[in-house]
Amino acid sequence: MKEPMIELRNVEKAYSGTPVLGGITLAVMEGEFVAVTGSSGSGKSTLLNLIGGMDRPDKGTIVVDRGEISSYDDQQLTLFRRRKAGFVFQFFNLLPNITVLENVRIPLLLNGIRDASDAYRFLEKVGLGGREASYPYQLSGGEQQRVSIARALVHDPGVILADEPTGSLDSRTGRSVMELMRELAKEMSKTIILVTHEEYVSRYADRTVHISDGVILT
Ligand SMILES: Nc1ncnc2c1ncn2[C@@H]1O[C@H](COP(=O)(O)OP(=O)(O)OP(=O)(O)O)[C@@H](O)[C@H]1O
Ligand SMILES: [Mg+2]
Repeated sequence: MKEPMIELRNVEKAYSGTPVLGGITLAVMEGEFVAVTGSSGSGKSTLLNLIGGMDRPDKGTIVVDRGEISSYDDQQLTLFRRRKAGFVFQFFNLLPNITVLENVRIPLLLNGIRDASDAYRFLEKVGLGGREASYPYQLSGGEQQRVSIARALVHDPGVILADEPTGSLDSRTGRSVMELMRELAKEMSKTIILVTHEEYVSRYADRTVHISDGVILT
């Protein structure tokens, strides 16, 4: 039987004594694209940060790509984020003072890969071949998000974690970014968890789960 790529069991998280996640259990299979919806403050970003190894749960276990990251120390978590995860954010988080190509090379360089050919290849894949020498400010929002998608995929991570990736785009640009994400994920069999509060965005996913009061409603 296929193992899940991401598995959370009874995951709890509180900040300063205030519970945010109250026992999350969720399994996501390899190649699956899951959208997480929920109202503002319901804990969507908290959940994504836990799966991405940016924070640790108070209770419960989290397994990603066969590693039990909830028991990792700081150094193991850093390596996990660098090798196994790709991130896409609402405001792109591109470094402003280096070119598009250098932005996409960052995950490669962090993994000791100096060859830039994959960075060129992924920029081509997201439709930005020829824009390698541009700076982020010279690109539209949709183009900047495409660069960040190339950056999220270039080091071949097992999971892609996207937090409101269309949140700063108009709906037409948002749709084209979502089409690109879905197409690349299917082509490369990537597992995606995407957080959104926009109904149209969740329709691109294979499955949508809803967080309310710190638990997943099914
Ligand atoms: N690092 C932190 N320290 C303290 N409180 C936090 C931290 N991160 C999140 N919280 C709190 O946890 C709750 C859930 O926050 P979270 O960012 O996960 O919500 P969200 O569902 O992503 O909301 P939004 O849709 O507005 O982005 C909020 O009340 C928030 O203030
Ligand atoms: Mg959030």
